[in-house]
Amino acid sequence: MSGDPHKTFYLETFGCQMNAHDSEKVIGTLLNEGYRQVETVEEAGLVLYNTCSIRDKAEQKVFNRLNDYKKYQKQGKKFGVLGCVAQQEGEKIFERAPHVSLVCGSASYRNLPQMLVQLENAQLENAPMETGKSGPPKPKARSPIRVTGLDDRETDECFETEFTARTNPHRGYITIIEGCDKFCSYCVVPFTRGKERSRTSDSVLAEARQMADLGYTEIQLLGQNVNSYKDPAGKPGGKKTFAELLAAVGEVPGIRRVRFTTSHPRDFGRDIVEAIDSVPTLCDHVHLPVQSGSNHVLGAMQRLYTREQYLERIAWMKAAKREISITSDVIVGFPGETEEDFAETLSLLDEVGYDAVFSFKYSPRPNTPSLALEDAIPDQEKARRLEVLMARQREIQIARYKKYIGTVSEVMVEGRNEARSQWIGRTSQNKTLNFTAPALAAPKVGSYVPVMTTISFPNSLLGEMVV
Ligand code: 5AD
Ligand code: SF4
Repeated sequence: MSGDPHKTFYLETFGCQMNAHDSEKVIGTLLNEGYRQVETVEEAGLVLYNTCSIRDKAEQKVFNRLNDYKKYQKQGKKFGVLGCVAQQEGEKIFERAPHVSLVCGSASYRNLPQMLVQLENAQLENAPMETGKSGPPKPKARSPIRVTGLDDRETDECFETEFTARTNPHRGYITIIEGCDKFCSYCVVPFTRGKERSRTSDSVLAEARQMADLGYTEIQLLGQNVNSYKDPAGKPGGKKTFAELLAAVGEVPGIRRVRFTTSHPRDFGRDIVEAIDSVPTLCDHVHLPVQSGSNHVLGAMQRLYTREQYLERIAWMKAAKREISITSDVIVGFPGETEEDFAETLSLLDEVGYDAVFSFKYSPRPNTPSLALEDAIPDQEKARRLEVLMARQREIQIARYKKYIGTVSEVMVEGRNEARSQWIGRTSQNKTLNFTAPALAAPKVGSYVPVMTTISFPNSLLGEMVV
């Protein structure tokens, strides 16, 4: 155990895969600075929250949690807020949660080592104990220590680090593009994650090869709009399109699966489907958020495509050689969404036949253009639409998942559910396919095995390993 309790950290992560991966980079950076990660707040000198602000509840959760941990301040713990709430709320966090001493947005993580030194120095300055006239020594009244690392939208830098601490030894993320320049009218991301910056394809491929050498077999390319990737490579003729990069990562020896998320419909070219067709390691799954099936609402959301253009992209995928599983995000109750608009979203679900839909009630976000629109649809009505949508999608999924009964799919073994005596598997289409296997043929976590589906559920499949 380290002797210095202030060199221990606890990190909790909220939000999307970008945040999960940022946390892996933060952990790697801190470990390299001599910190040790601990499993509980109690053990930690430094408590960090990597936060999400995409919808209001996520943000509120952070403040609630920070409030819960106020009591630990007396023990000299330091609290830091990272990620999107940090970037969005900035120094206001110090007002709302005065026990916080570090606020750092995602584009500033590269400065974390210096910020931590600042924190440690401030701690040392505050450390001398006051000896009272009687009784044990008491800590001196601490002056607030506040370190801020925030960025405006102008930063050109990507948070690249050689110290990424990946938590899963078989599949890992690679960020290829950060930020967003789309400015959908409801979305806070362009303000919290800054402008779009792509990494060079050379550095992405180098990281993919390095991961393959370490034994990773699955890579997930990440970006807020992953397919808006623009290779900044200087070499003449050396620039790769997103589809070319995807194919190149898929061809790295040792890599068996490549996923990518999240794609924006406007930048979704046919070449992506062609790459999936010609490179078998590219997974047959595309997450393509539609948000609404109504052109009126899509216009108000500034999504930059129509229902017809979206469906054209779906048609490209449906014409692919392998069946591509399609998933989406939908927002209900956007300002001005009428019953007819909502009905168009439902009909779009029927038309596409998604394998999963993540649906959300619209929530107004700071800085966003739609904040100026009246949020006139009552919460109860938003909740009703959400329920209707989820029920419709459930029916669609029941029918879709049933079709897999009797078929064999290759799964990556992700773990074991002891309580159910089942293995947890994931198909290339990103479906959960849990399965049983004879004890003598127990598969290894991280291996790929064929599984015959025997039972289907609305969100997952169950089967038997083919031996
Ligand atoms: N209100 C509701 N849902 C939102 N999303 C993004 N911003 C908002 C908002 N203000 C949803 C979108 C996006 C997903 C990640 O979160 O559906 O695709
Ligand atoms: Fe937000 Fe739209 Fe950018 Fe996605 S594309 S991150 S929804 S602004």
